[in-house]
Amino acid sequence: MLRSHTLGEIPSLQGKEVRVCGWIHDIRVLGRIAFIILRDRYGFAQVTLIRGLVGKEKFRKYTKIPRESVVCIRGRVQKSEQAKLGFEILPEEIEVLNRADSPLPLGVADKVDAEIDTRIENRFLDMRKREILSIFEIRNIILQGIREYLLANNFIEVHTPKIVATATEGGTELFPVKYFEKNAYLNQSPQLYKQMLMAAGLDRVLEVAPAFRAEEHNTTRHLNEFISIDIEMSFANEEDAMQMLEGSIVNAIRKLKEEREEEMKTLEIEWDVPKLPFRRITYDEALEIVKNNGIEMEWGEDFSAEALNALGSELQEFYFITRWPMEIKPFYVLPDGKYSHAFDLMYGEKEITSGAQRNHIYESLVEVMRSKGLNPENFEYYLRAFRYGMPPHAGWGLGLERLTMIVTGVKNIRECVIFPRDRTRLVP
Ligand code: 4AD
Ligand code: MG
Repeated sequence: MLRSHTLGEIPSLQGKEVRVCGWIHDIRVLGRIAFIILRDRYGFAQVTLIRGLVGKEKFRKYTKIPRESVVCIRGRVQKSEQAKLGFEILPEEIEVLNRADSPLPLGVADKVDAEIDTRIENRFLDMRKREILSIFEIRNIILQGIREYLLANNFIEVHTPKIVATATEGGTELFPVKYFEKNAYLNQSPQLYKQMLMAAGLDRVLEVAPAFRAEEHNTTRHLNEFISIDIEMSFANEEDAMQMLEGSIVNAIRKLKEEREEEMKTLEIEWDVPKLPFRRITYDEALEIVKNNGIEMEWGEDFSAEALNALGSELQEFYFITRWPMEIKPFYVLPDGKYSHAFDLMYGEKEITSGAQRNHIYESLVEVMRSKGLNPENFEYYLRAFRYGMPPHAGWGLGLERLTMIVTGVKNIRECVIFPRDRTRLVP
């Protein structure tokens, strides 16, 4: 083992000999004494170098190690009134494992803001900053909180293909892929596969996987590759699916408060566990709010960015929009006259989730497909699952980055992906 402890463990190890490893965050030399701030994922440590103790030679050598170099330090942990962290390490030996070039393309310790492009190009450096790391620690806890809740509710986690033959969410946002002699696409959503698993009798499925959308527009809330948390449940309607969703989100926020207090402080965010049930408004009620804000909108239109802002100005909370017009929802949604059994989960002006009770009646599904200009023959692999015993079912798809954006309060969705894919970015 290169290290005996992480920096998160050492505050409780006073008087002990340790070997800790990490990055040199900063070095301050004050005459015959110097302070090296060491950093790892779990915390910081002040390493106090006293020239009289380590010797002239080592003192000079150690204080010249460039910032962000990777080192291991052997020494003793000691309580300290002066040290900001309440303890310090008195080193015997500092070993440089990997020397950092200087100058750094991006500062880590300094408080200067860099452009998002520079930051992403140097993401490995950018993520060494506490406020950036915190976003991903929080993203992870949100995901685990949702997964934990769903697994406790008997969902089985599955993986479906990402190279597929047909669109699910509309034909224009597809990335084509050459698949030997056939034309294929990157999947926009596991929608059709998770529904087929209802016919397979899996009853409740969960999938966490990338989804691909060839969105042409570059916005602060669209990515070309995002992580979709999808569920599908049998013998269930949209209300059952909505309850599963609000329960998952409440569990995620509870877990966040319990386990990521430090990161929430770093990002200066506060959350109360939302009260259940979340507010539910119908599409018609949402339309009224939009119109009352002086925005023109016809029944049957989707909400424009402006309309969403109007909703957001009145509803700074998690809320559902239910009973959507069927004409603006995908073919697999269960119709109800000109309405549908679809819902969206929103927070302010942002959509986090779309879901619905699905149309499980073969003849009706084929009819809706035709009315939306789709050729049922292209979907034969999917449709056959509806002819030999398909239970009624419902489900949803949640964009993990959208939810992370809301929880962390960041303004650009790219902040919530380590290596974002957008209209122009393919590396790193
Ligand atoms: O609303 P969408 O397109 O719905 C579906 O994919 C359905 N198959 C879900 C279902 O089960 N009925 O996408 C679901 C969610 C959105 O609410 C949003 O949070 C996220 O996925 N999303 C995106 N996130 C980032 N960038 C994009 N381009 C996204 N497109 C959708
Ligand atoms: Mg949607």
